[in-house]
Amino acid sequence: MDTRRDIKIATTTLKNGGLVAFPTETVYGLGGDARNADAVKKIFRVKGRPVDHPLIVHIAHRRMLDQWAEDISDLAWQLAERFWPGPLTLILRKKADVIDEVTGGADTVGLRVPRQSVALELLESFGDGVAAPSANRFGGVSPTCADDVRRDLGNQVDFVLDGGPCSIGIESTIVDVSDEHPAILRPGGITREQLEAFTGRDFPTRIGGRVKSPGQMPSHYAPQAYVDVVAADEVILRATKMLAAGLRVGLIAPRDIASLDAAVRRLLISENTDTMAHDLYAALRTADAAGLDVCLVVLPEERGIGAAVADRLRRAAGPRHKMPVVDGLPGHGT
Ligand code: TXA
Ligand code: MG
Repeated sequence: MDTRRDIKIATTTLKNGGLVAFPTETVYGLGGDARNADAVKKIFRVKGRPVDHPLIVHIAHRRMLDQWAEDISDLAWQLAERFWPGPLTLILRKKADVIDEVTGGADTVGLRVPRQSVALELLESFGDGVAAPSANRFGGVSPTCADDVRRDLGNQVDFVLDGGPCSIGIESTIVDVSDEHPAILRPGGITREQLEAFTGRDFPTRIGGRVKSPGQMPSHYAPQAYVDVVAADEVILRATKMLAAGLRVGLIAPRDIASLDAAVRRLLISENTDTMAHDLYAALRTADAAGLDVCLVVLPEERGIGAAVADRLRRAAGPRHKMPVVDGLPGHGT
């Protein structure tokens, strides 16, 4: 792989209005020129995403913040200074010339400087903002390596910039600092504890704001397998009944369950929440590749990045499919 050559190709592709999948420390993004309405429309088409669901604009340096946002508070500048480059997206009031295609018509815009050398080289070389959602189909599992992108979006992307696996593995934290009530819209790579310790103020989680954000989605980050969130002491009973009904079952949990049937595929077992975040989407993809019917999930403790892992797993368990019918198990799903 010739990174310098690839960045050149990626830059030209973006300048010509094409789409480039690129690595970040969180997940791979599906990028297009954030000033080009046709390129941005193409992102929505390829992703299959509703147009009122806005995109994050990725920039090379926090100096560029005021090219995209206005009324930037001291708090917002402090967060940018402390956490950029990094897995933090700031929602700010947009400048008048930011196109509606990016913001879904909202008066705010999401901005982020990623902490990944290939991404930063691309953004520097391109010289302006790159609009990018995660490079997966809408509602599905986010890609954490270039092969995930190729499998999901294949030839619908003009160029896949391969920067190896993502170091964090779960999306950025989205913080709304567009007014005087800062709030977390999506937990992620920068934890609430970090935000609160640094600023000395509260960062409540706000779901269901004016703009469509992941918190409003009934189901997101979901594999084909039915995701069933259960308490650790329910796993054996549920797994036994599911196996008896002929279902293929997997497990994601902080700890293995003593004397659980060996037929249950251990997809991801780790007490370390960083490891859980890092390996979560690969585990959900493995569930599908292995043709599992159900993925039993025991949530991690919701501290630090564990809050983001639990958030994604709850959304993966959102009402999308019906729970396979198993005698003797309480009805699940709608
Ligand atoms: O880590 C990440 O954030 C990755 C990488 C590629 O940077 N990107 C990502 O993008 O996860 P996406 O589009 O899959 O999720 C971004 C979320 C969307 O749910 C969107 O609704 C929300 O950010 N968002 C974007 N702009 C917003 C705004 N102005 N107000 C509220 N939410 C916004
Ligand atoms: Mg996404």
